[in-house]
Amino acid sequence: MPKQDVKRNLLEHSAVKVRLLGIYLKRYLNIISNDGYTEKIWIHDLFCGEGIYENGGEGSPLVILREVKDLHFTGVARDKKGPLIDCHFNDLEGEKVKKVEASIKVKSLYYPRFGGLRFTTNDYKQEVKELIDTLPKLKKQKAFIFIDPYDYKSIKANDIKDLLASGKAEVLLFLPTQFMYRFHANGTPEALKDFIEELTEYKNWRENDSPWSFIDQLKEAFRAFLGSRFFVDTFTIQKDSNTVFCLFFFSSHIKGFEKMLEAKWEIDTEQGKGWHFSGNNPTLFFDQKTNGFQDMLKAFLTTKARTNGEVYEFTLRSGFLPKHANEILHNWQQTGLLKVNGRNSEKVRKRSFYLGYQYYKDDNDKQKVSFKLN
Ligand SMILES: C[S@@+](CC[C@H](N)C(=O)[O-])C[C@H]1O[C@@H](n2cnc3c(N)ncnc32)[C@H](O)[C@@H]1O
Repeated sequence: MPKQDVKRNLLEHSAVKVRLLGIYLKRYLNIISNDGYTEKIWIHDLFCGEGIYENGGEGSPLVILREVKDLHFTGVARDKKGPLIDCHFNDLEGEKVKKVEASIKVKSLYYPRFGGLRFTTNDYKQEVKELIDTLPKLKKQKAFIFIDPYDYKSIKANDIKDLLASGKAEVLLFLPTQFMYRFHANGTPEALKDFIEELTEYKNWRENDSPWSFIDQLKEAFRAFLGSRFFVDTFTIQKDSNTVFCLFFFSSHIKGFEKMLEAKWEIDTEQGKGWHFSGNNPTLFFDQKTNGFQDMLKAFLTTKARTNGEVYEFTLRSGFLPKHANEILHNWQQTGLLKVNGRNSEKVRKRSFYLGYQYYKDDNDKQKVSFKLN
């Protein structure tokens, strides 16, 4: 591979992490700003880096502020006043934080009317402790926390659990799974054992023959550890044929979770799994995207009839979107495999499946119809 390509791929793989962050934030900020309830949003970037990559690409602080600025100006254009958005950037290295501050000024990315802007140079552990104390006290406020360390050693599963416990925070965590997996293959270091022990008993941890199975096992362990109140998903970043990193997303709210799934399907239109160094080339065949999910949905509906609310939640927890479930259900309806019943034996129009948060949030509407396989 020519040197230039290697460089470009490396840069691309770093940039895709913040691209997902930006796409998600755009959706998250739009939803929260229009929920008619939230008065303030806090964004915490706890390992913020220096703001600009060597080639001029923008790191997380600039990506975050660009989304805040965008939202503000589209809101102002619509003559609408949204919640204040308070951004906090932290990095242990003071010089980096100074650079972030300077580039925000040069690029005119912040105006006081957005909300507050704060810079700190503390250890991550201290920041997390403060957040765990303050989050439960927030009223009509929400928080988004981005955790992007170089290594996993300072990351504790219990901290993630405590950040989520308030029900007010979403967390996006980058983990260098490649190095964790590689260590695992060469004899597990104590730090990794400790990390896993927090999530599950180490004796239950299976050997992994690929970084993919390591990521899957970790995701399942996080799900079991956090319980059904929370939502967990991953976005993989495959830098080259042997190297896979991973972003973990944690949410206490199904709507926030759906926004993250939309963001990942926007980047990986094929499988909704992640980014691949050779590009995620689109295919025209819908079936290829939903193959695995079709079997999962069939198994879910085979055991018993399920309501639209149950199918909506199942779809998201499986990493798919309502549009995927709608397509499959429609096919089954066409071929006579699926029966859709109205709650009080009302007649249901063809192709009306009511899979969406607008139905899910209402106790009656989440049982508008039920699905049964013939
Ligand atoms: C992967 S980089 C962050 C990149 C940044 N999010 C971006 O998008 O450009 C990790 C950062 O963590 C900082 N760091 C290392 N140890 C830390 C700690 N204990 N607490 C806070 N920051 C730390 C490093 O200085 C480094 O800038």
